[in-house]
Amino acid sequence: MPIAEKRLISEHIDQPGYTVDIDCYLKYGGYRDLQKALTMKGPDIVAEVKLSGLRGRGGAGFSCGMKWGFIDPKKNTKPVYLICNADESEPGTFKDRQIIYKDPHQLLEGMAIACYANNVHLAYIYIRGEFVLGAKILEKAIAEAKARRFLGKGIAGTKYDLEIYVHRGAGAYICGEETGLIESLEGKRPYPRIKPPYFPAVLGLYMSPTIVNNVETLCNIKHIVAMGGAAFAKLGTPNNTGTRMLCVSGDVEKPGYFEFEVGALTIGQLINDVCGGIKGGRQLKAVIPGGSSAKVLKAGERYKIKSKKPDGTIEDKEIGLEDIPLDFDTLAATGSMAGSGGIIVMDETRDMVECLSNIAVFYAHESCGQCTPCREGSLWMKKILHRLEHGRGHPDDVGLLKNVADNIAGKTICAFGEACAWPVQSFVVKFKNEFESRALGNGSLLPKKNGLLPVATPKTETV
Ligand SMILES: Cc1cc2nc3c(=O)[nH]c(=O)nc-3n(C[C@H](O)[C@H](O)[C@H](O)COP(=O)(O)O)c2cc1C
Ligand code: SF4
Repeated sequence: MPIAEKRLISEHIDQPGYTVDIDCYLKYGGYRDLQKALTMKGPDIVAEVKLSGLRGRGGAGFSCGMKWGFIDPKKNTKPVYLICNADESEPGTFKDRQIIYKDPHQLLEGMAIACYANNVHLAYIYIRGEFVLGAKILEKAIAEAKARRFLGKGIAGTKYDLEIYVHRGAGAYICGEETGLIESLEGKRPYPRIKPPYFPAVLGLYMSPTIVNNVETLCNIKHIVAMGGAAFAKLGTPNNTGTRMLCVSGDVEKPGYFEFEVGALTIGQLINDVCGGIKGGRQLKAVIPGGSSAKVLKAGERYKIKSKKPDGTIEDKEIGLEDIPLDFDTLAATGSMAGSGGIIVMDETRDMVECLSNIAVFYAHESCGQCTPCREGSLWMKKILHRLEHGRGHPDDVGLLKNVADNIAGKTICAFGEACAWPVQSFVVKFKNEFESRALGNGSLLPKKNGLLPVATPKTETV
């Protein structure tokens, strides 16, 4: 029996007759949670979010309540800002896009509650430059919400004022990194800031306290207010609460986005029961579980994890790739991460040298160039992989690749360093024979190879 989806954020998305218009949203009970929130005290909402255990859906999985807790109203002499990170540029990830394009008012309602809770009067939605239509949809939704007084001055008859502006990026991956995003929003080149001291909660937008949250994270806020933090915390598993939108791309029969309670199903159940199995009945070779920067997991590997028994005690367990539950903690225990929820499935015909080369081209192009290990290293990894791929490998290239990657991770200003090093570190070690064969001039080990990384890449919209 396949595990049923738990559609909380995507409850109405793709339902026949459900539109982006405010009248439709109101018909389905929209903005009721905002009205409820406005009867509560801001700190009480923050307390509910802490109780809910909600972790950020943008990549790092950081506790949302704890992040909000860093904004200390008593110490603030400057205005507090909130930024919705709608950059969604991690390859393999396309969930925020579903929300923005098909249920924009849900995001606005979540943002309005988050802003009210944290005494924010000015917020921004920083949207990926390629989402031209998405920006237009959001702008229309903001105008509608203002006309109905769910945004603007005196929201829903209270004394609370809030303005939300949409800001379009120019299509750079690094603008998704929160401090790069803030620089870009300030009108500058998106060079990430060094932390400390530039933690957004302390020195964020215009050097003021700033909350940066992902689209999906902010949508969750309205559901936490609706059901209460304790009820929300019952969804999912302890420390991995709520639901998660998962984007599946690659070699499965039915790719797409799905929503499940966190940890409710394993990688194998997702591939076989939800996505119809591996394409053409072929064998599973590898999975990237959290967007292209997550470390690759190889079929046949064994992972040591901690698992909770029914009596509450913890036991050490060894599991295979298909048995990994899709939650933050277990994926971290496998050495990879839940990241942005983008799950890329690769079958036995994928040539790992070519897949990694494809990833490396992306990261070399997207490095902001501010720090030397990342700027030079990402380019060198791309060049080495290019020569391996095209039959011009050197015998020591495998070691060299690993060495370059090891000298990037942990040595840069922002986590892009890890994002570009982790794929290389994991692919080269786990599929060493494929890389060595190329390095020694013996060509691909695959008789019928299929090289490009099988991710969904949204086309630039021209609206
Ligand atoms: C290179 C890089 C790119 C990122 N891109 C995104 C992105 O496109 N969207 C996003 O929400 N978070 C992205 N993040 C994570 C953000 O820096 C930040 O942690 C997140 O927006 C916080 O929101 P959350 O706590 O709700 O997850 C990126 C991080 C890095 C290092
Ligand atoms: S790690 Fe890369 S992307 Fe991040 S600041 Fe340094 S050069 Fe820029």
